[in-house]
Amino acid sequence: PAGPAGAPGLLGPVVYAHRGASAYAPENTLAAIDLAMRLGFDWVENDVQRTKDGELVVIHDDTLARTTDAEQAFPDRAPWRVKDFTAAEIATLDAGSWFGEEFAGERVPTLREYLDRVERNRQRLLLEVKKPELYPGIEKQTLQVLGEAGWLDADHAQRRLVVQSFSADSVRLVHGLRPDLVTAFLGTPTLAELPKYAQFTDRINPWHTTISADWVAAVHDLRGAHGKAMEVDTWIVDDAATARKVQGMGVDGIITNAPDVVYRAVLGA
Ligand code: G3P
Ligand code: CA
Repeated sequence: PAGPAGAPGLLGPVVYAHRGASAYAPENTLAAIDLAMRLGFDWVENDVQRTKDGELVVIHDDTLARTTDAEQAFPDRAPWRVKDFTAAEIATLDAGSWFGEEFAGERVPTLREYLDRVERNRQRLLLEVKKPELYPGIEKQTLQVLGEAGWLDADHAQRRLVVQSFSADSVRLVHGLRPDLVTAFLGTPTLAELPKYAQFTDRINPWHTTISADWVAAVHDLRGAHGKAMEVDTWIVDDAATARKVQGMGVDGIITNAPDVVYRAVLGA
């Protein structure tokens, strides 16, 4: 497994730190990716959305309410949608205290800040284009920011970056704009639907409760957009028993809030 500083694959599934090491640090913050690094995990997952004034930021929900102090800071701005706040306003919010006082002062990172930290940590990124229907053009803009940050060269494109979305249209668009990038579709296409996805993506990333060993094998039998056998990264698996179960189904990766737990489980430790 990819594990403490490991490369993916020969022994078992790659372990991705979902929203960073988000069982132990506030999700989608720099603290969460730093902690993933200290635990030894190089792959981190995030979620990208857009502010009112067009800045890309890293946050999961389409409102600020759950993971920041926006309700207290801006009491008259319900329902606190990300797209209704400027980047300067979002930069004032505390994105750590909700998780634990020791994380007070963590911020909602801009995508650029986040990429710079992932780079500094020598980590790799599973970037999710989140709710693209709310943000027309976000795919092209995300690629532009990736390019400006130096994340579209061959090293990043081939080894350190995967772009994923629940929106097949978004994944298809990213593939069309940058065919050299590795992409993933979030969902569980039927066996009949899978060949269509194979035209524009390399990986299928399903919720773990929706899959079987046969389905994983059927994905592996297909060649994806880059001509290699398609792979499967499943989410969100935070306990040892489920990690072993999906490992037994033959998945290629496990996306988890608790990467240390999953890593030990798939090693049989
Ligand atoms: O990476 C898979 C996972 O992030 C998909 O669900 O809601 O956590 O973005 P969600
Ligand atoms: Ca996500």
